[in-house]
Amino acid sequence: DYKSVTMGEEAHFYGNAEVYWRDVPPTVDGMLGGYGSISNIDLNGSKAFLKKLIGEGEGKTGTMCALDCGAGIGRITKRLLLPLFQTVDLVDVTQEFLDQARTYLGEESKRVGHYFCTGLQDFVPEPGRYDVIWIQWVIGHLTDEHLVKFLERCQGALRPGGIVVIKDNVAYEGVVPDDVDSSVCRDLQIVRSLVAKAGLRIVHQEQQMDFPKEIYQVHTLALR
Ligand SMILES: C[S@@+](CC[C@H](N)C(=O)[O-])C[C@H]1O[C@@H](n2cnc3c(N)ncnc32)[C@H](O)[C@@H]1O
Repeated sequence: DYKSVTMGEEAHFYGNAEVYWRDVPPTVDGMLGGYGSISNIDLNGSKAFLKKLIGEGEGKTGTMCALDCGAGIGRITKRLLLPLFQTVDLVDVTQEFLDQARTYLGEESKRVGHYFCTGLQDFVPEPGRYDVIWIQWVIGHLTDEHLVKFLERCQGALRPGGIVVIKDNVAYEGVVPDDVDSSVCRDLQIVRSLVAKAGLRIVHQEQQMDFPKEIYQVHTLALR
C-alpha cells in the first residue's frame, strides 16, 4: 500500500531523496536520469503547450513572472521560462544545482529574481507573485499531503489569470515507488484527485508525444 511508502517513513523519504540528488552531476543528463537526449522534445512540447495559454486578453495568462519548481540547474528556466517571462525564480532542494544554474543560464541569469534552496514541502511562494508556476518531474518527491498543501500555496501565489502547470510521469495504474531516488510515480487519476483536493481545476491537459517507448507516459496539466 503506497500510503505506507510515502507517509510511513516520511523523514527517510525526503532525506534519501536529498542524498540521492546530492550525488547527481549538475548537467542536463543528470536532471533527466540519463535521458538528456529528450530535453529538446520536452521543451518544444512545453513551449507549444504554454503558448496556448499566455498572452493578452480575457482569461489569458500574463508574462511578468514565473516560478520553476524543482528547477535543478535551470534546464526549463533557460529554454522555456526566461524566453517567455520577464523574471523567473527557481526553487530546488539541492544547493549545488542552484549554484550551477548561475553558470548554466549565462547572461540571461540577470533576469532571475530569486534562487530558493528548500524542499517544496516547506516552501511558501510569495502570495500574488506568479503568472506561471511550473512544476516538472518533482511531484513524486512529495507525499500526497505535502503535494496538496503545496498546490494550495501555489494557488495563493498566482497573479490574476495565473496558472500552475504540472508536467510529470504518470504510472499505468496505482502508485509505483522508486527506491533509487526515493520518489513515487502516481497514475493520472490519483494526480487529478490530489489536484482537485487542493481546490484547483484543470484548464488544459496534454500528453507529451514522441518520447521513447520504454519510459513513463508524461502528461502536462494547466491548473488554476
Ligand atoms: C528529475 S530532476 C528535474 C529537474 C527539472 N525540473 C528538469 O525537468 O530539468 C528533480 C529535481 O527535483 C529536486 N528535488 C527533489 N526533491 C525535492 C523537494 N522535496 N523539493 C524541491 N526539489 C526537490 C532535485 O534536486 C532535482 O533538481
